[in-house]
Amino acid sequence: MTVLTPQKIKVRTTFDRDQFVTDCRSALAADRSHKLVREVVARAVADPAAILKALGEPSRAALQTLYRSDELTVLNIIWGPNMVLLPHDHRMWAVIGIYSGREDNIFWRRPHGENGKLEAVGAKALSEGDAEPLGHNIIHSVINPIPRLTAAIHVYGGDFFAAERSEWEPETLSERRFDPEQLIRRFEEANCVAALARQSGSTSLSPKPQSMI
Ligand SMILES: [Fe+2]
Repeated sequence: MTVLTPQKIKVRTTFDRDQFVTDCRSALAADRSHKLVREVVARAVADPAAILKALGEPSRAALQTLYRSDELTVLNIIWGPNMVLLPHDHRMWAVIGIYSGREDNIFWRRPHGENGKLEAVGAKALSEGDAEPLGHNIIHSVINPIPRLTAAIHVYGGDFFAAERSEWEPETLSERRFDPEQLIRRFEEANCVAALARQSGSTSLSPKPQSMI
């Protein structure tokens, strides 16, 4: 008989989409900052398998809205293989919780003066199980550095789609108005790129390599 020591016992949890949203709303009602919401997200991504079971195995790049109101947005974001998102701001706090794959964030600073250029000031690699808070004024770009899908729950302290905000053009790093419609198109472009790469045998859409399942 195998005796399980406490270290060997993995506690299984369940993830319920509606309960998660309710928990985020309750956390926000108790504290308007990202502090308590981050704890809710951290608890959820501590068991990635439970989220995958509830939301389904990702099969393509996608931006799925789980909840949207004036004060809170909850998104299920599936990054395409090697997908890149331009530098952008949110003008509200955010919490990113990774439940499959990897996400590299580059952090930027607004230019000084009229002709200044956006300046990279830091980076952070996020992995499965991480729940990272982003402050109200953060400007970041996102890279999925792996040749398979990365899946994350993003929670924002406001209406992600309605907020007026900026992104920066990739070649000149000049500021322009953020267009949520264009963001959604980028996910479809990522799916086209992934389909072409799959035809040539250079990438996988599986959220995990088969050998790891
Ligand atoms: Fe963002």
